[in-house]
Amino acid sequence: MAENSHEKMLAALGVTQAEQVAALFAQLLSQATTELQSANSAELFEKFRVQWLGRKAGVLTQVTDNWLKPATPDLKRAVGQEVNKFKAQLEALVEARKSAIESGAEEAASAKDRVDLSLPGVVRPVGSRHLIRQVLQEIEDIFVSIGFSVVEGPEIETPYYNFEALNIPEFHPVRDDMDTFYVEAQDGFGVKTAPGSLLLRTHTSPVQIRTMEKQKPPVRVIVPGKVYRRDNPDATHSFMFHQIEGLAVDTDITFCDFTGTIEYFVKQYFGPSVKTRFRPSYFPFTEPSVEFDVSCIFCNGSGVAAGGGTCGKCKGSGWIELFGAGMVDPAVYGFVNYDAKKLSGFAFGMGMDRLAMLKYGIDDIQVFFQNDVRFLKQFP
Ligand code: PHE
Repeated sequence: MAENSHEKMLAALGVTQAEQVAALFAQLLSQATTELQSANSAELFEKFRVQWLGRKAGVLTQVTDNWLKPATPDLKRAVGQEVNKFKAQLEALVEARKSAIESGAEEAASAKDRVDLSLPGVVRPVGSRHLIRQVLQEIEDIFVSIGFSVVEGPEIETPYYNFEALNIPEFHPVRDDMDTFYVEAQDGFGVKTAPGSLLLRTHTSPVQIRTMEKQKPPVRVIVPGKVYRRDNPDATHSFMFHQIEGLAVDTDITFCDFTGTIEYFVKQYFGPSVKTRFRPSYFPFTEPSVEFDVSCIFCNGSGVAAGGGTCGKCKGSGWIELFGAGMVDPAVYGFVNYDAKKLSGFAFGMGMDRLAMLKYGIDDIQVFFQNDVRFLKQFP
């Protein structure tokens, strides 16, 4: 039978008897089955569907028009039955093929998404703690081991905590050294703070006051944190750097406890062979005030460089200035309702960046803030 038998009339196909009809449809069905098998994509499948089931010119429509409608009364019944059967079979075939193609597509898609566990994964570099953070940890460990606890305070302060309560009244000349970045804040209603009423803290000392306001003596705390000053950046200055404040207040703390604690810390941090010394200094919130030095860790306090000549780090003095400290000025106790007659204590404020630079031989503070991986990687 010609492939396009459905375009011809039954008579032209030589079908005149009811018995021939079934064979004719069987052939048509087998042709459909073969064609459908090669329709292995969604596109080809759709083409097949239109070709066979399309309402206007599909094979089924043509069979109805060319075979059924003009059939002679003898054949009409047989052809009608076969058309119905053929239609049902064809539709069943199409349905089955449709779901096969859909599930095939799904499978292909999920194969594409499937994770191949045998592939080597993406290796992401693991970061490490910043050197400042590592040094902070070291310093904290030393002080925690001798009974200090760690507290923190806000980086945006009021002049009261940053200055006044630390015995630095508004007219005091040391404010000029420390004057800093005042900030303007806005509350939830858009109301701005008064000019000069907030600033970025210039030191961690305000947390001395905040701690004593909250807590009755005895006090033994260290306070790590960022501080800000109106400094121009160079190898030893940055507008933001890190300090660790220390404060110990109790009924019987002596100058000896003070220097002993500092010496213990410095030896723990730099190693047992270093020496410490202190020189008179001035801070409004300590009395007496001192500046602590450590024997030069680069020339072992000799003042002579390894290759001969003057040690550049201590400029031949054998000593390196470390940080400011002192016995808490009794005036400060007045601001926090501590009994200045019964209490005594000491405080210190160390530059963490400086301590890190000295211990690890770093000669430019800026590298801490540049986030150059080549630098950071040296301190895993
Ligand atoms: N706050 C002082 C500074 O930043 C350091 C200091 C702290 C001095 C505590 C004495 C006592 O320079």
